[in-house]
Amino acid sequence: MNSRRGSVTRKFGILTSGGDCPGLNAAIRGVCRAAQGRYGMTIVGFSDGFRGIIEENARVLGPNDFSDILTRGGTILGTSREKPFKSDVGSMDDIVGEKVGAVKATYRKLGLDCLVVLGGNGTNTTGYRFAQEGLNVIGLPKTIDNDIVGTDQAFGFHSALSVCSEAIDRLHTTAQSHHRVMVIELMGRKAGWLALYAGVAGGGDVILIPEIPYDIKAVARHLEARTRSDRPFSIVVVAEGALSIKEAEMDKRERKKHRAENGPSVGYRVAREIQDETGMETRATVLGYVQRGGIPSASDRVFATSLGTAAADLLARGDYGRMVALRSGELGSVDLSVPAGRVRYVPRDHYMIDTALAVGACMGIG
Ligand code: F6P
Repeated sequence: MNSRRGSVTRKFGILTSGGDCPGLNAAIRGVCRAAQGRYGMTIVGFSDGFRGIIEENARVLGPNDFSDILTRGGTILGTSREKPFKSDVGSMDDIVGEKVGAVKATYRKLGLDCLVVLGGNGTNTTGYRFAQEGLNVIGLPKTIDNDIVGTDQAFGFHSALSVCSEAIDRLHTTAQSHHRVMVIELMGRKAGWLALYAGVAGGGDVILIPEIPYDIKAVARHLEARTRSDRPFSIVVVAEGALSIKEAEMDKRERKKHRAENGPSVGYRVAREIQDETGMETRATVLGYVQRGGIPSASDRVFATSLGTAAADLLARGDYGRMVALRSGELGSVDLSVPAGRVRYVPRDHYMIDTALAVGACMGIG
């Protein structure tokens, strides 16, 4: 058993917020087993994200709550997309004031020294806003989108990458058998990390990401060249936020109208555009929520656990207002202001783009 160590934090709350992903329970286990076993802290778990702390839907967590959850997908605490600083009618109206007030009241009523939040951009931004309101907050970077500024990687990404890669492998066999172009749409919100990495992992012939608006004629030329070189089948990997050059030039209203007329799924739009441009038989698959389900990969189990124990150390030191992070291969932390309100996009000069091009993938231009 760990020898007990001193800790500035005696009692903290923990919640999971935003889209679920494999690794959440591994991270919860990492935080809680280190906080309780090494530092003797008391832990209060809130259900369903920030809704749980607003409604004081809370319970003290003990060793039985966080044993045997390392390999379980989803989150034992439940999650929601509740954003206390936002409401349907405005940003700082009475409803927001009530929700923010309720969070602060619960935090003080339960005698918390800190609130640990596991989530993506939105969650860590909300955590930062509560830190500005005087609460002690520590964030952990969670999302399959991998788009959190301040950390090289978020947990959940690697597990989703494994699911996407296997799905692309399966599409290869049916594409080859039918001599078809198979388009697969992957998640990732506004960034292209998942599509880029899964495209390389799965040998995608075309990889379309939001950071590089695509020219469907360049895509068509690439696919026709493959056919001429006796490879009459192709895999096209499309991030859900991918845009054509034309769409990228539209304003929000025009883009919304364009999607209303041409369908909300970029995967299906690209498939139709390819078929119209080339005459090749093309099919689309939207992989959807399987990317967020199932058990965590071994890599995510290790990564999420280490982020969790690092968060426990921040709690013990009273090092609040920070998000644990992986930076240049080292575990560390950044001020919560770093990820707040920002999205980590794929830089145009990122090595993985050059890797994709070097193995002959088309990125929608050229
Ligand atoms: O942020 C994770 C994510 O899966 C995105 O990739 C996706 O666009 C979004 O959540 C879907 O949101 P929801 O789960 O609310 O449908």
